[in-house]
Parts: sequence; structure tokens; C-alpha cells
Amino acid sequence: MGAQLGGVLLRLPVRAVDILVRGRMTIEAWDDIHRARDWGTCPEPAMARFAKRRFPRGAFVLDVGCGVGAQSYWLAESGYDVWAVDASPVAISRIRQRTPMLRTAVSDACDLRMFPDDHFDAVIDVCCLQHVGAISKALAEIGRVLRPGGWLFSMAAAWDHAPEALEGFARRLMWESIDKVYKLPWVAEIVTAKASHTDGPLTIAHWLIEARKHAHAD
Ligand SMILES: C[S@@+](CC[C@H](N)C(=O)[O-])C[C@H]1O[C@@H](n2cnc3c(N)ncnc32)[C@H](O)[C@@H]1O
Repeated sequence: MGAQLGGVLLRLPVRAVDILVRGRMTIEAWDDIHRARDWGTCPEPAMARFAKRRFPRGAFVLDVGCGVGAQSYWLAESGYDVWAVDASPVAISRIRQRTPMLRTAVSDACDLRMFPDDHFDAVIDVCCLQHVGAISKALAEIGRVLRPGGWLFSMAAAWDHAPEALEGFARRLMWESIDKVYKLPWVAEIVTAKASHTDGPLTIAHWLIEARKHAHAD
């Protein structure tokens, strides 16, 4: 039985083993995905709407967990000044080939020390933080690099299209994160915290948070 299970595990792709054994994706598993898959250049409509509504003209935006750059590409094309970071070196190498005008770096969401305090007008997270174990650390870093009054757009996706996925996913995984966001000392206002089905390319259940940092360091 043990040998059989071992055989099955050996035949699975590395990322599947990672998920089974560690319960979450490793950066090596993300590297595999970014080598094998193109996530396109189509932004999430909810993110694009939020940017148009909230970001000042030419805003300085950080895309955390940018992958191969679907959101960053759109933001740069729309006139925003973008930094794109991801923990996967393969993702960053691909984004550099495709969109050389973007500023990019291999960086963990939990350690954004390459950026000073109060630096960005906005930070976007499209389905990255949901994969980060130390989400409180990442959210603290995001709060640090946002300028006073700056915006966070954060989106987390469920893995399938079933209506019940939204409910199950929200309860199981995301509520804890959203609850943490509510309690963050740097958050002044949450304008949106909702679950819905995206109208974007993912067409799956997702959670959205749109939050603003205190205008003054108080
Ligand atoms: C679902 S993909 C989303 C990619 C991109 N935001 C998009 O919209 O196409 C999640 C991304 O998070 C990145 N990631 C995972 N853990 C991370 C971490 N701790 N720090 C930074 N990026 C991370 C992965 O490499 C992957 O590119």
C-alpha cells in the first residue's frame, strides 16, 4: 500500500506533490506553472474598474505576485507607473521578455524591503496573497509601502465554477484573511469586501477587498 502510494506520488507533477504534501504551492511549483502556461494579457475587469475609479492619473502602482504580467501590462498601457514583483524567477524572466518597459523584480510579498515606506499610490494583488502562508506579514509590508491615503485592491479566487464553491471557499480559506485585513492598523476604510463571480477571464468565484490606508500616520 505504502509502495503503491509512493509510486502514484512519483508520477504526479511536482506541483501536485507540493500541494498534497505541504498543503500549498511552493515557488518551484509556480516556476513550473509559469514555464508551462501563458496567463495572457487580459486584466481582471474588477481590477481595471477599480484602477479607473480610484487611482490618480499616472499613479505609482505595485503589482504583488504579478505572474507573467497580465495586470501590470494593462496598467502600464493605461498610463500608470508600474512596478511588478513576483517570488517566481521564471515569472519575472517571462514578463521581462514580453514587457521590457515594466520595472520588475523577484521579490517575496512578505519582504518588500527594496521599496521605501509610503512609496506607492496603490498596490494590487490579483490572486497572489491567497497563496502566501504568512499573509499577515505580506499585508503589513503592503501597508508599509503604500503612501498615506493609498489603495489596496486584493482579489482571491476559488478553484472551480460551482456556485457552492464560493461559499465553501470563502468560509474555509478567505474569511480569515479578510478578517485580518479588517483589523490591520494601517487600514482606514474598506470600500468593498464581497464575494461574487468574476466577469473576467477566470470566470470563477472570488473575494474582493478594496481598502484605503490612513491619510496620516496616526
Ligand atoms: C494565481 S497567480 C496570479 C498571477 C498574476 N497576479 C495574474 O493576475 O496573472 C499567483 C502568483 O503569485 C506568485 N506568488 C506565490 N507566492 C508568492 C509570494 N510569497 N510572494 C510573491 N509572489 C508569490 C506566484 O508565483 C504567481 O505568479
